[in-house]
Amino acid sequence: MANVAVIGAQWGDEGKGKVVDWLASRADIVVRFQGGHNAGHTLVVGNETYKLSLLPSGVVRGKLGIIGNGVVLDPEALLSEIARVTAQGLKVTPENLRIAENVPLILPLHPALDKAREAARGEDKIGTTGRGIGPAYEDKVGRRAIRLCDLAEPETLSAKLDELLLHHNALFRGLGAPEFAKQELLDGLLALAPKLLPFSEPVWERLAEARATGKRVLFEGAQAVMLDVDHGTYPYVTSSNTVAGNAAAGSGAGPDAIGFVLGIAKAYATRVGSGPFPSELFDETGRLLGERGREFGTVTGRPRRCGWFDACMVRQAVKVGGVQGLVLTKLDVLDGLPELKICTGYRIHGETVKYLPAAFRAQAAAEPIFETMPGWAGSTRGARSYAELPAEAVKYVRRIEELVEAPIVLLSTSPERDDTIMMRDPFAG
Ligand code: GDP
Ligand code: IMO
Ligand code: MG
Repeated sequence: MANVAVIGAQWGDEGKGKVVDWLASRADIVVRFQGGHNAGHTLVVGNETYKLSLLPSGVVRGKLGIIGNGVVLDPEALLSEIARVTAQGLKVTPENLRIAENVPLILPLHPALDKAREAARGEDKIGTTGRGIGPAYEDKVGRRAIRLCDLAEPETLSAKLDELLLHHNALFRGLGAPEFAKQELLDGLLALAPKLLPFSEPVWERLAEARATGKRVLFEGAQAVMLDVDHGTYPYVTSSNTVAGNAAAGSGAGPDAIGFVLGIAKAYATRVGSGPFPSELFDETGRLLGERGREFGTVTGRPRRCGWFDACMVRQAVKVGGVQGLVLTKLDVLDGLPELKICTGYRIHGETVKYLPAAFRAQAAAEPIFETMPGWAGSTRGARSYAELPAEAVKYVRRIEELVEAPIVLLSTSPERDDTIMMRDPFAG
């Protein structure tokens, strides 16, 4: 039996949380390997709705959750998320949540820098979640991050904060923003230490043991391939690698531990924040998709931009992400639309292309080439078998499968956990 890695194949919010929760019943461990509390994963189980940002979605099933070293961890955000889900009846303790001792921390200065930079960019802003994700990753790569393990060594922590503030306060002065005082940061971190350290461990060791004993691991991606710092619509991306290859580096498991790569895509497309979106709709249909799909950001509440399914882009995500099987979600949102469009390529400066180029101006100039398909009159909402789907819906799914060059292995037909159709078990490899 293979492990499975779940990644977003568009611009995020494809329904990764729902899929991971559904698959978690077949897994022993769920691992987050990148991103931070910029992620917002909504799980609907009966009458209860869980909104998770940092906690691996497996916690709702009572599975062991691991936060890998590839994540950037905001301690306050984690503790308040634990408090929130505890109030909803879940149990999150060091028994069922382990955090990589080498995970870099998000400190209060990171969101401050994120927001100050966005304000300075004005019209050109990335549209970040303002959670300090980018600045925290910069510090990690810049070798000045405070890591979870540093909380156990107050002297190391104190020296590292000196170095960190030398860098950051120079930036804040340049941006005309208030500087940070060391003592306040140090006191804050030392107060958090006893709450966080019980979760800390070398998670690579646990993952190696899981492997030796044949346990099944589910790697839960956040964001998506088109927000990947290398492969996405740079610079309108997040600051981590969102592709499944990062599941290994971001958790300390070897590359052959990743297993089957499952890409998640909505039956249409959405994007939060700025950046190219060739198949975006600015008309009544776009508004309708947003309304029916309840397309508002889980983290920031911003309305998501909506458009037609971009098969050209998802095909690219399939290739760069090594996606072996695709999950199509939110098919029900298209119920009743008279006709549907699928983007199959772009016109860029008079030329037809089959991929989104990397250059900024070329990306911005990409005009979609659409193929039109008939919609369906019946309902797909809540369908749990292929036989329940209207014939046109089946045709639409099949056409997408053909265009993106990956088999569709699961279909999701409502936010509810069990409204899922399985064509092939991803854990079967
Ligand atoms: P994630 O970030 O990829 O986990 O996705 P989000 O949770 O941010 O956004 C997906 C939204 O769509 C959530 O509100 C889900 O409850 C909802 N959702 C997931 N699958 C389906 C589906 O098949 N149909 C409908 N209508 N909603 C869905
Ligand atoms: P999930 O896991 C959708 C977007 C932000 C912004 C860009 C950079 O729920 O799919 P950042 O704060 O990461 O520096 O912002 O990335 N973004 C997301 N969009 N879903 C997400 O996560 C996102 N996480 C970041 O809107 O455009
Ligand atoms: Mg989301």
